[in-house]
Amino acid sequence: MSPNSKSPQRWVRPEVQALTAYHVPDPGNLIKLDAMENPYSWPAPLVDEWLEVLRAVELNRYPDPGAADLTAQLRRSMQVPDGMQVVLGNGSDELIQMLALAVADKDRVILAPEPTFVMYRMIATFAGMQYRGVPLAADYSLDVDAMLAAIESCQPAVVFLAYPNNPTGTLFSATAVEAVIEAAPGLVVVDEAYAPFTDASLMSRLGEFSNLLVLRTVSKMGLAGLRLGLLAGPAAWLGEIDKVRLPYNINVLTQASARFALEHQATLDEQTGWIRRDRVQLLTALTGIPGVQPYPSDANFILFKTPAGQADAVFESLKAQGVLIKNLNPAGGRLQDCLRVTVGTPDENAAFLAALRQSLGTQAAASSTTG
Ligand SMILES: Cc1ncc(COP(=O)(O)O)c(C=O)c1O
Repeated sequence: MSPNSKSPQRWVRPEVQALTAYHVPDPGNLIKLDAMENPYSWPAPLVDEWLEVLRAVELNRYPDPGAADLTAQLRRSMQVPDGMQVVLGNGSDELIQMLALAVADKDRVILAPEPTFVMYRMIATFAGMQYRGVPLAADYSLDVDAMLAAIESCQPAVVFLAYPNNPTGTLFSATAVEAVIEAAPGLVVVDEAYAPFTDASLMSRLGEFSNLLVLRTVSKMGLAGLRLGLLAGPAAWLGEIDKVRLPYNINVLTQASARFALEHQATLDEQTGWIRRDRVQLLTALTGIPGVQPYPSDANFILFKTPAGQADAVFESLKAQGVLIKNLNPAGGRLQDCLRVTVGTPDENAAFLAALRQSLGTQAAASSTTG
């Protein structure tokens, strides 16, 4: 490459060139159980009412930059304690990015247990920071001693704890989380993306620790298409993070639609209630399939292990039978042989279970004929 080359190889940071872009598979007509979405749509009269609301939205105007009305509704809905400040993001992904941008420096570390939500690592890289992953214990609980040792040695600017964790579904113990908050020299962000599916939350404890922030999203409760997340915590931190937010990051359609949806939260709560109920049945059914080892989950998905070496083939077989889930086996390490299925409607769950039984039967037959 000549020194005057105008090529991306010359200018794009090497760590960005080394990344693989986040891949989202095209679901086509497959039953979509790969992305932790709520599978339920709204009743037709509610859709009509929502469309009426959208009629009044002025697309020629910039949105309210502070999204004041929506913020007030979200504070009530998510029970943000009085005195705590809130910043909204274009999905909680954007808030993770704002957090990284606010603290970024090339020698600074973002730390998280592994395996966890992949965007913590990716965004650390985008922001030009270091990332340190600390392996979870064998049962996917938080390895507190290992976390405390890593915090001591690399003094992270931010620790992310997904609570419950993705992709394991595990809810870390509250005492383990507290130990991390107390030991961390910088921020601890408790990411409660799956809050609608668990009774546990640290939201009410905001303010008790000066370095604790809580991250939420409306995605998993049934509004993934709106792209709206919320970060809550002490004003001293949020005032700084808000400075790196792009103006107008929550568009007019999202503001109007989320406000409407939150006025009808009972509908969303009913749907997440069905998902919680069906998660129990799905776990029981998976437990009864020979060779399958599912893990208990406090989220709207279940991680399970296939017989050794069969995850890729089972994933492909499910796809061939019309069901798309998430193959985690390529990530390797603690996720070897692992697949993750989102809890769908009862019909979708039944189709998935039938396809899984079929693929495991096929696998068993294939391995017995190949010796
Ligand atoms: C733990 C966790 N946090 C955040 C997100 C991102 O959510 P959003 O749709 O708000 O960007 C996800 C998405 O899967 C997640 O699993």
